[in-house]
Order: sequence, then structure tokens, then C-alpha cells
Amino acid sequence: MLKTSYRLLKPLLFRMDAETAHNRLLGSLALAPDLMAMAASWGAGPPPSMLAREVAGLRFAGPVGLAAGLDKDGLAIPVWEALGFGFVEVGTVTAHAQAGNPRPRLFRLVQDRALVNRMGFNNRGSAALAERLGRLKGAGRWPGVPLGVNVGKSKITPAKEAVADYVTSIERLVGLADYFTVNVSSPNTPGLRDLQERSALERLLPAALRAAEGTPLFLKLSPDLSEPALGDAVRLAASLGVSGVIATNTTIARPLAAEAGEFGLNRDPEQPGGLSGRPLWPLARQAIATALAAADGRIPVIGVGGVSTSAQARELLDAGCAAVQLYTGLIFEGPGLPSRLHRELAKE
Ligand SMILES: Cc1cc2nc3c(=O)[nH]c(=O)nc-3n(C[C@H](O)[C@H](O)[C@H](O)COP(=O)(O)O)c2cc1C
Repeated sequence: MLKTSYRLLKPLLFRMDAETAHNRLLGSLALAPDLMAMAASWGAGPPPSMLAREVAGLRFAGPVGLAAGLDKDGLAIPVWEALGFGFVEVGTVTAHAQAGNPRPRLFRLVQDRALVNRMGFNNRGSAALAERLGRLKGAGRWPGVPLGVNVGKSKITPAKEAVADYVTSIERLVGLADYFTVNVSSPNTPGLRDLQERSALERLLPAALRAAEGTPLFLKLSPDLSEPALGDAVRLAASLGVSGVIATNTTIARPLAAEAGEFGLNRDPEQPGGLSGRPLWPLARQAIATALAAADGRIPVIGVGGVSTSAQARELLDAGCAAVQLYTGLIFEGPGLPSRLHRELAKE
């Protein structure tokens, strides 16, 4: 049912500019999320109970979760649960509402099954998300799967005030998130990825942990870090009491094979943005291996980057990942993907 409707819808959506398609779809889901969730659940359903697991003290209904960035403002949370994700991450939100970069800023590379984005954290701000989540909680409609909130730095906040920007968002949202993710790895906010350096993490992470008041807190890292730097960040996170690591975000590298894309991106390597989807997989896979080795079982690693098959999900879980996330696979494979992956994983 989901598969058939997406097969009909996809050609229409893919004819539109990528961000317009995204906004139309999310906009219609957000108009009546509970109704949409009911419709979505007809074709999907929750993960088989044998796949449930504990990650950082939380009960994930299944190992496949929604990655950050698709629903930055938490507009359609019931829908993601109904599609069968085992956990859901909203955000990135920032302390200040912001418009993000000028459009166009989201590009499909259809043959590569990839996206390039330079959205720049367009979001309504952490105060607006706190209000929305507060209403959800107040109405007794909190999702049945863990809901993570991913926080980042506002563009207007100078680097030296970055810690306060993260802390402001976490303080607003504490009690309204099952876990937090500290995002220091998006390539589209100038200077953000410098926060992955040891000295910056040593200031940011303890402050974020204090603000989170015991709510599990993950650190999301970039696949473009060198192996030693990535390992160092993971070890530091573990030693500071961070609950886990999410590896990886998008890459500024361009390992594209199939096509130049709508805007000739691989003929124009200066075109800024983060690449996700199939071509990210080898790089992310490598970074995940590095993260797992550095974590050495002390903290969980959530693997993300180019996952769109149960074989890939299985490979990451077998390698030691506690769970996986995906975003781009959902755009190309359709909304039936999370429940299909869970079904296939349960069969093995
Ligand atoms: C359009 C777009 C927007 C994204 N926005 C965010 C974001 O706001 N915060 C974040 O941590 N990651 C963001 N990501 C990265 C994803 O969460 C994920 O780490 C990355 O895309 C790799 O996974 P995938 O290949 O399954 O998409 C975004 C990805 C895309 C494609």
C-alpha cells in the first residue's frame, strides 16, 4: 500500500525542485499528523518485538531510526513512528530561529541515489520546538519510540559563545527529549566542525551534559575527520560521560560515480554542501569502523550514512553498532523502507 502510493507519487515529487517536494510532503503530513500516521501504519506497522533493544538506557523499538534533518521542527512525529522507525530524531534546532542558506540548497543526484544539501539549519528555533513537544506531552501523545532532539549552533552566534548556544537549546528542551544529540558535524554552518577539536569538545560536552540533567546525550561526528581525530573525539566523549556517538553526518567529499547531477556538482567541486546517500556509504562505513574501535564497547555507536538495504543495516549491527539511522534512503526507496528493513532483519 505504502509502496504503491509512493510509486505513483515519486515521479511527481521528483519533477519538482527537491526542497519544494520536501516542503509539500512535510507540509501535508504536518496538517494532520495523526490522520497521516493512521494511514501510514496501514502499510507499515511497528518493528517485530524481537528487534527491540536497549541503547543508552532507552528502549529502542527496533534498530532502524530516522536521522536528523528530515523533520527539523518536529512537525510530523506521529508519522515517523507509524512508518515503523524504532526511534526518531528531530532537529537540528538552534537557540535562534533562522532561515538557513539561500535557495537552491538541496539537490538530488538521482542515478547516484544521493543528495547534496547546504540547508544551513533552517529551523524555527529550540523555543518553538520546546513548545510543540510540550503540547505533545501535555496531550498524552508522546511517541511510543524514543524521540531524540538534535541541537546545533545558531549561525549568528560567534564561535566563542557556541557553548552557551547549545546549552540554551538543551535547557529549553530538557524533559522534552528522550535523548539529545550534540551536532558538531554539519558542513553548512561556518566553523561548526571546528567544535570537533579536542579543546572545543572539552568545553562543550561537559556543559551540554550538565544542561541535559541525565538525559542521554549523543555526539554526532563527521566522516571527513581524519582517523586519529575521529578516534580521539570518540575516546574523549566516552571519558567525559557522553552516552554514545552517531557516525556519520554528510561529507564534503564528492565520491560520485553515476552522474553530474542537476547542477553539475561533480564537475564543480567548489559547489558547497554535504553529500548523503549511496556514495557516502564507503566513507561512512570506514568512519563507523574507526568509531567502533575507539569506543571499544564503552559507549554505543549509532551508524548512519548511505544505508538503504537490510544487508547494510545487518553489516553495521554485526560490526557492533547499537542501531542505525537513515534519511536519504527514505527519499529514494520510499516510506516503506524502515518497516521493510525491520521485517528483513527479523527474518534473518
Ligand atoms: C537534506 C538533509 C538535511 C540534513 N540535516 C541535518 C541536520 O539538520 N542535522 C544533522 O545532524 N544531520 C542532518 N543531515 C544528515 C543526516 O542526518 C545523515 O547523517 C546523513 O544524511 C547521512 O545519512 P543518509 O545517507 O542516510 O542520508 C541532513 C541530511 C540531509 C540529506
